[in-house]
Amino acid sequence: MCGIVGYVGHREATDVLIEALKRLEYRGYDSSGLATLSTGRGKGRLRVLKSPGYISALEKRIKTGSSRIGISHTRWATHGVPNEVNAHPHMDGEQNVAVVHNGIIDNHLALKRELARKGHEFLSQTDTEVIPHLISEEYRHNGGNLFEAVREVVKRLKGSYAIVVLHRDHPDILVCAREKSPLVLGTGVNEGFIASDVTALLRYTNRFIFMEDGEIAKVAADGIHIEKISGGTVAHEWTRVDWSLEDAEKGGFKHFMIKEIFEQPRSLHQSQTGWRSDENSIPADLATARIIRIVACGTSYHAGMVGRYLFEKFTGLPTIVSMASEYRFADATSDDPLMIFITQSGETLDTIMAAREARSRGLKTVAITNVVGSTITRETDLTLYMRSGPEIGVAASKTFTSQLMMMYLFSSYLGYRMGYIKRDDLNSIKEHLRHTIRSVEGILNNTGPIREMAEWFSGSSSAFFLGRYVNYPAALEGALKMKEISYIHSEGYPAGELKHGPLALLTEKTPIVALVAGDHTYEKMLGNIGECSARGSPVVAIAPDGDVEIGRYTDRVLHYPRVDPLFSPIPISVLLQLLAYYTADHRGCPIDKPRNLAKSVTVE
Ligand code: M6R
Repeated sequence: MCGIVGYVGHREATDVLIEALKRLEYRGYDSSGLATLSTGRGKGRLRVLKSPGYISALEKRIKTGSSRIGISHTRWATHGVPNEVNAHPHMDGEQNVAVVHNGIIDNHLALKRELARKGHEFLSQTDTEVIPHLISEEYRHNGGNLFEAVREVVKRLKGSYAIVVLHRDHPDILVCAREKSPLVLGTGVNEGFIASDVTALLRYTNRFIFMEDGEIAKVAADGIHIEKISGGTVAHEWTRVDWSLEDAEKGGFKHFMIKEIFEQPRSLHQSQTGWRSDENSIPADLATARIIRIVACGTSYHAGMVGRYLFEKFTGLPTIVSMASEYRFADATSDDPLMIFITQSGETLDTIMAAREARSRGLKTVAITNVVGSTITRETDLTLYMRSGPEIGVAASKTFTSQLMMMYLFSSYLGYRMGYIKRDDLNSIKEHLRHTIRSVEGILNNTGPIREMAEWFSGSSSAFFLGRYVNYPAALEGALKMKEISYIHSEGYPAGELKHGPLALLTEKTPIVALVAGDHTYEKMLGNIGECSARGSPVVAIAPDGDVEIGRYTDRVLHYPRVDPLFSPIPISVLLQLLAYYTADHRGCPIDKPRNLAKSVTVE
């Protein structure tokens, strides 16, 4: 939620701040702003520019730039409506300090009251505005030491923050600090960068330091100095990130989402081949687990739900799946589960806090994430990487199928290590997965029927997605994709559950998307399709090639290249992503930036 950037160096700061910020727009896009310190005429003056709406609106307001240092921000509103006043950066009353912030300051009301008593006036409704006011107070009292002033202020903040501070009397440094919100530092030749994530900076550098909670840094063109907020210097290793700039660009596609959907044969292949090195990192004691608990949010939670069936099948262990936001508030059980946290971004605060909680209880913890150096990697005993490449579209697509791939690989490998399945079984699963990637290619090579169906679908206002067994979570994910990008109200259901209530909503205007795999649920699915048709609802069946029986139940069928039914959630999910994408495109929706959403949910 919210993206922040800081730059100091030899380039025109405004250019870097806008270019990098655009790559963070997926984190929030209701308003944006920047602050620079001018180096030409009017030297020493903080120039702040803000705009409601997308970054392109801010860009239009920029006239000239002549600065070598600055900060910028793209917002996902938490406190105060998205308007120009509430947009960041925020300043102190004397306009000496500018601050951009990602996170939530829980004690901002108490701090605001304290500052108001001292005569401070506030312009915005945000929690952030107290920070520059506090810094200016502290700075005055400590004789002009910006680093120490920021340190003393952040010690007083409760909640989550990644902040970058620019002061008009310090044209050579930026000070930043983090607690529960991500922050990376980058370096080039005579320049320093700060950003919420690495994709913002790929154009300039691939050498990064991932700051940790409780750290504060001074970033100058000639170097970076990091300390713990509580005191004491910190030595970080530089991490090289191999994502290329092209990975983070649209490459001729209309939207990031469709580019990312089409990247899936490659991302799935990368997940599968990368797994070979991860296998070796799995400690033997994981195979002594007696119960497994998977914790995640949103799309990652759906991947975990598919994982539940797979862990139970391949390890024989009872497996529970919890939403991270709920797990933390449930009572601890006496079980000693192996905890698996799935998070594409590695920054979802609910998932991170759940991992922290599990670790504090002494449980074994494993993270599955896509982002090297992300926060979750420091919260768990072991990290397994999905290797999907950067995903910019807010709606998860290629990272979901990579998460599924990880579920197949991890569950079967664990089962093999436990002696529950044999080496031959493991090899056969890997072969099925390779075949599944080819089936995804088949879908992407023939999108015509899906586009036609999407055109018809785009006239709907409410829809149901039904599946059973491993395709029940695929139905949930298909419905989530459809609702978040096309704004058509969509619900995913286990097909057998419909008659326990939701059937009351079916009319001839309520399309049903029924996920069919040729497994032990097949007959029952046909029955459920019949129940819906009998109520006049048009049914779109998603069925494997060669299924002729299905044509007797509905004349709307989208076929996918046949795979072993256990693996069908992967091709089915790709097909449903395309259905959601083309439907949303037909409706003219802002697909990469759906209203009210953000890619990385770093608030609880
Ligand atoms: O980064 P994470 O996987 O932890 O994100 C969890 C959810 O916020 C995320 O999957 C969200 O539901 C998707 N953007 C939906 O497409």
